[in-house]
Amino acid sequence: MKSIKIVGTGSALPEKILTNFDLEKMVDTSDAWIVERTGIRQRRIADENTATSDLVAIAIERACAQAGLKPAELDTIIVATSTPDTVYPATACWVQKRLGIAGSAAFDISAGCSGFLFALEVAANLIVAGTAKKVAVAGGEVMSKVVNWKDRATCVLFGDGAGVAIVVPGDGKSGILSSNWGCDGNLAPLLYQPAGGTRLPTSEKTVKEMAHTVHMEGNQVFKHAVRAMGGAALRALSEARISAQDVKLFIPHQANMRIMEAARERTGIPFEKMFVVLDRYGNMSAATIPVAIDEARSQGLIQDGDILLLTAFGTGFTWAAAVFRW
Ligand code: UT7
Repeated sequence: MKSIKIVGTGSALPEKILTNFDLEKMVDTSDAWIVERTGIRQRRIADENTATSDLVAIAIERACAQAGLKPAELDTIIVATSTPDTVYPATACWVQKRLGIAGSAAFDISAGCSGFLFALEVAANLIVAGTAKKVAVAGGEVMSKVVNWKDRATCVLFGDGAGVAIVVPGDGKSGILSSNWGCDGNLAPLLYQPAGGTRLPTSEKTVKEMAHTVHMEGNQVFKHAVRAMGGAALRALSEARISAQDVKLFIPHQANMRIMEAARERTGIPFEKMFVVLDRYGNMSAATIPVAIDEARSQGLIQDGDILLLTAFGTGFTWAAAVFRW
């Protein structure tokens, strides 16, 4: 076991709610289609002045308050995001600026919707190696600013938000019992943002063609997501020698209720144990798992010793899963 402890969690969600009925007025879609095909009813949308670091900074303040720490005491800030404030520096650096702190290591992880689990794994290894002692592990996204609001196949899916876990060395009782991660870069073109990098720098043409927004082959992503999330979760359970009955909460990445259900069914975990925030927040990419953990915890659903099964899939394609004892 990688002995670590989560001593505080926090989340930040923009106030503005965009319902499926609002979307009906924007594109050719319906509440019935969105609910049936995805399970999403509404999502939060950041205002024009809010960037990813703003949401992450608020979530860090809340998580630190719960942990009884000041943000200045953190020695490492890791932000998992696909919607950074800027191409460089890392969003984690803007988070420091926003919090008025300096000195800690601060960097981003780009692993799409699997980003929070990648960041948690990195944090655990830094802690076990003795490199870090007080780590803010964040997943934050402002997806609404990289979505093409004229493309009904993608714009109905995403939402904005951030979640944070404060991770410190454990006392041997809590931590990651098993974890796995992976990527198949050959499938990258199935879900990506074509423009804005060195492959296709921003130009008048890329803006006109909306190449700076999410491009996704939804059906293909769906198929791979089902296979990878379920597979990673099963591997994590078997390596930890934990049975489905021993899992207190199953928290999958929340992109589509049908994908989550397929992954849950493969693990044999009962429906009641799956924690869902998708209906209210949509797909917040790297933020879905930490926001769900924070909400489950604040509802009193997670106690010391409880076993969580976390699994994710995203652009890359990346996947990851972890069995965590709280
Ligand atoms: O976070 C990880 C990354 N993302 C994901 O995991 C998303 C994975 N993919 C999905 O969740 C699903 O593929 C979608 C929700 C995106 C689409 O669901 P689907 O059941 O795969 O639908 P589809 O793409 O096969 O489209 C079915 C029909 C099409 O119409 P025709 O060709 O059958 O006439 C689409 O044009 O639904 C149409 N459609 C819509 N209709 C109303 C597509 N989007 C919409 C919409 N409203 N928003």
